[in-house]
Amino acid sequence: MDRDAVEPSVESMPGSRAQQWADYHHQYSAPSTYVYDFVWDTSAPAIGPFCTDVDGNVLLDFTSHVAAAPLGYNNPTLQEKLAAFDLPDPTKIAGQDFYVSSDWPPEDSDRPGPTELMERLTDVTSHYDMDTVFLSNSGAEAVENAIKICYASGGHRGVTTEGAFHGRTLGALSLNRSKTVHRKGYPEIPGIMSIPYPSTDEAYDRRWRTDGPGGNVLADKLHPSQGVVDAAELAYVIVEPVQGEGGYRPAHPEFARDLQAIREEYDVAVIADEIQSGLGRTGEMWGVDHLDLTPDVITCAKGMRVGATVSRSDVFPEETGRISSTWGAGDLLSSFQGALTLDVIQEENLLENVQTRGRHLRESLVDAALPGVTDVRGPGLMIGVEFDGKDRRERVVEAALERGLLTLGCGHRTVRLLPPLDVTEREIDLAVDLFGSAVEDAASDVTTATTDGGH
Ligand SMILES: Cc1ncc(COP(=O)(O)O)c(C=O)c1O
Repeated sequence: MDRDAVEPSVESMPGSRAQQWADYHHQYSAPSTYVYDFVWDTSAPAIGPFCTDVDGNVLLDFTSHVAAAPLGYNNPTLQEKLAAFDLPDPTKIAGQDFYVSSDWPPEDSDRPGPTELMERLTDVTSHYDMDTVFLSNSGAEAVENAIKICYASGGHRGVTTEGAFHGRTLGALSLNRSKTVHRKGYPEIPGIMSIPYPSTDEAYDRRWRTDGPGGNVLADKLHPSQGVVDAAELAYVIVEPVQGEGGYRPAHPEFARDLQAIREEYDVAVIADEIQSGLGRTGEMWGVDHLDLTPDVITCAKGMRVGATVSRSDVFPEETGRISSTWGAGDLLSSFQGALTLDVIQEENLLENVQTRGRHLRESLVDAALPGVTDVRGPGLMIGVEFDGKDRRERVVEAALERGLLTLGCGHRTVRLLPPLDVTEREIDLAVDLFGSAVEDAASDVTTATTDGGH
């Protein structure tokens, strides 16, 4: 497949094989898991954002597997490095509780394992003085361990934000405020308060600022004489620098500054959940790099292939056995791929590409002035296109799919676009054309806006 020439081509979407495959899948999979209408054929040609599905349709994938594939399909540099990896005895264990060496000296390995992955993660978080990592297997576990280490430092309360998504283990789930379906009926850890997550000027003024003693919702609660919560009881504030599931909404810069002031005044740990916004997605290595906010803990996963809780050594509990995971860091190949992904992002200067292409994507969508679109937002290649109603959003995702463009919904009425970090100008232009045509198509089916709230 020639990346510079290939174009999406669709016979029927979803095709009959994809439907058959989905039926087969559902004979065994838990019924509540998501179903996507495309089934990627891993043995068929794929490159960058292009892949082939089981019916032979060629698709332009602007989902990057929900940020789990930041380098797209068959990234040549990654492939080359992986090809040189001679998979050792498959029974050989990995994980951070075990020492694994595949090369010498440890700091200069061509086949980086869990330890080298941790070293790289401290390199890209050194501007926050982070020097220590706990590796696990998923985003939810990265969050789970982030809150555990903060609780271990003292305090039994946590703060989360409206619209947040932090994962599905019971601890992480207790921090979610994006959709009822994630939480209903499940027990939650106590002591979690939620605060607004202002993204716009209007929300910052109306929902966050107050006339109270602290001047904002959280500072009022923590105020020493007039507040309602003893700040010493607060273990952390967890925040997504750009909300993912909640609707691709960037944190308002002043909101971030206010959180920084609270962090400094009350010595409260800030956890930046970078599981969707990290690893270059926003044009900086971390979404929080855009803000005047210093995180004490960063969580990342997805494209890293493993879960990672990164922090300063003084934030982690010292006692042996306080946190642990048998398969933390996955197998050798997972940590190897995570480390190489970080290498490719840096060696190929992808942050710059994300900034340039992101600007082009955002501006092209704004210039297209598409019917029913109420907002186009987001830093880098984490772009949310908000519509005037959920029905229209659903129809647009469907119409895009029929044209071979894969997109995803988020929030209540937003489409998220997150192509691979090395996306080209031609690919952006192709996607904008297909997206525009899908929106026009949807406009003929959906004429009236539903009133179902924002995002
Ligand atoms: C911001 C954020 N936090 C946590 C998670 C949970 O990650 P995982 O699905 O790997 O458990 C996600 C997943 O989408 C996420 O977007």
